[in-house]
Parts: sequence; structure tokens; C-alpha cells
Amino acid sequence: MSEEIKMIECENLIKIYKSLDSEVVALQGLDLTVNKGELMAIIGNSGSGKSTLLNMIGGLDRATAGKLYVDGKDLFLLNEKEMIDYKRNTVGFVWQNNARNLIPYLTVSENIQLVLNIGKQKDIKNRTNELIELVGLSRRKNNCLSELSGGEQQRTAIAIALANNPSILLADEPTGSVDTKTASQILDVFRELNHELKLTIVIVTHDRAIASKVDRVAAIRDGRLSSEFIRKKSYAEELKELKSGIISEDSSEQIEYAVIDKFGRVQIPNEYLDELNIKGNSKVKVEILNDKIIVLPPEKK
Ligand SMILES: Nc1ncnc2c1ncn2[C@@H]1O[C@H](COP(=O)(O)OP(=O)(O)O)[C@@H](O)[C@H]1O
Ligand SMILES: [Mg+2]
Repeated sequence: MSEEIKMIECENLIKIYKSLDSEVVALQGLDLTVNKGELMAIIGNSGSGKSTLLNMIGGLDRATAGKLYVDGKDLFLLNEKEMIDYKRNTVGFVWQNNARNLIPYLTVSENIQLVLNIGKQKDIKNRTNELIELVGLSRRKNNCLSELSGGEQQRTAIAIALANNPSILLADEPTGSVDTKTASQILDVFRELNHELKLTIVIVTHDRAIASKVDRVAAIRDGRLSSEFIRKKSYAEELKELKSGIISEDSSEQIEYAVIDKFGRVQIPNEYLDELNIKGNSKVKVEILNDKIIVLPPEKK
């Protein structure tokens, strides 16, 4: 594990949205590390801070406090101009609503060429075809966007996100407006890109089915990382076994870990607290017993 290169490092990351009459603490000291070449998902209820986190990592907005390093850069230290370069060269973005990136009356090729033109890229024709092939859209490249299915449109959006050759691909609810089958196909595109280009990919989703298909899932609760789900067997291992004809039991199962931060804080799932009738913002007894730490409701007087 020690030779892993860190691509994203958030430490005690805080984001406060301020307006005239209110303050929202969207990230409350979030810790997260993503290694280079990792494909991971972030899950959490609506309003838990997923998009905020992605926007901070993508440089679309600035965090309030904490540490945030991406691809070796300290995002807190970048000035406006450096931030623009960072957005241009380091990250690619995919959103749920792809209309944000695409023009319906242009073809797949034309949409991609448009972006390559803006980026003043060389050899636009070859690069366009390369990108189209990467996302598996060669057969549809001369179709207008309006003629494509939701999944195909999303593939085009992914191709565009890859146009500047980013080191990280960030996707915010990329399968939010398509059916289950299409969602699974879109995930396959991400998996292929991760595998072939060794691209680091972070997908925000509330689709549990999607989340169960990546090696690591980080769960956010109230602007903080609460637990992680790690796959028992990685996809690479599983693929290898499949190819060599080994048939093993279903290994798609994930193990859940609660996250403990450097101050020793752990978030205990609400269901567990409810089960023992322990209220939040109160006291519990914490004891050590052999190799276990036990949390108990307070004794009744
Ligand atoms: N631009 C903003 N101004 C004020 N509050 C915001 C803004 N963006 C998000 N929030 C608030 O921050 C919290 C986290 O939001 P968000 O990151 O969008 O959550 P998620 O993507 O998990 O649904 C929510 O309470 C939301 O209302
Ligand atoms: Mg969101």
C-alpha cells in the first residue's frame, strides 16, 4: 500500500456558504484520500455535501479551511489564473444533466470538435475520433445529439470531459437521469477508462447498485466521511479469475468500515443508536474488552 501515489488529499476540509442572513456548513472537517488510478464512489443523502466536495476538488469553488491537495497542487495556494489552468489541465467534469455540456443540433463529432477548438488543440480530427472510440460511440459519431439515447449523450459528455486529457475525472450523479440498464453501461465506460487510461475517477451517486460495483465507496454524512465500503475482491482480481476460468463465489460483497479520524472520532450509524435508544448529543460509556471497544448506553439511575 505504501507505494500508492496520492491524487486527492482532503484533510479537515471545511466549506461554509455564507449569505446575508444565514450560514451553511456544508463540509464539516472532511478527510478523504484518493489514490492515483483509483475508481471510487461517494454516496450520501441529499444535502450531505457530495456536490460541494466535488466542486472543491474540481476547483469550481473554494473551500473555507482545511487542506486540499490535488495532483500535487495545494488548491488553497493557487491564484485565480493558476486555478483556471488547473481546471483546464487537471480535471474533467461530468454532470447528471448533460445538456449543460452539449449542443443538441450538432453531431457527436461536431460537439467534441467544438471543445477541442476552444482548447486550441492540434490535430482535431484524429483526437475527435480517438475520444469517440474511447467511449464506444464510433457507430453514432455522425448522429445529432438529439437523435441519441440518454446513455449515448452521456458518453458524449464523458468524451468531452476527457478532451483536455485530465488526470482526474469527476462525475456528479452521472447516471441520475437514465434507467438502470443504461446506468450500468455508463459505469462500464468509467471502468474501462479507469482500466485503460489508469485515470483516477470519483463518481458521486445515490444509486447503491452503481456504488456496489466499484472497489471503494466513501459515505458522507453531514459534511463528514462516516464510513467506507471496500470490495472483498477488486475488479482487477475478479477479471483475472474470470479469464483463467476460476469460478468462485460471488465476491461483489463489500465490507463496511466506520471511519475514524485522527482525533479518534467515529460516526456511529443512526440505526445502531436508535436500536439501543441512545440519543445524539448525549453521553455513552466506552470500555475496552480484550480486543474490542464497547459503546454502552449510560446506566440508569
Ligand atoms: N451555493 C450554495 N449556497 C448556499 N448553500 C449551499 C450552496 N450549495 C450547497 N449548499 C448547501 O450545502 C449543503 C450541501 O449541499 P450539496 O453539496 O449540494 O449536497 P449533495 O450534493 O450531497 O446533495 C446543503 O445544505 C445545501 O443546501
Ligand atoms: Mg449534489
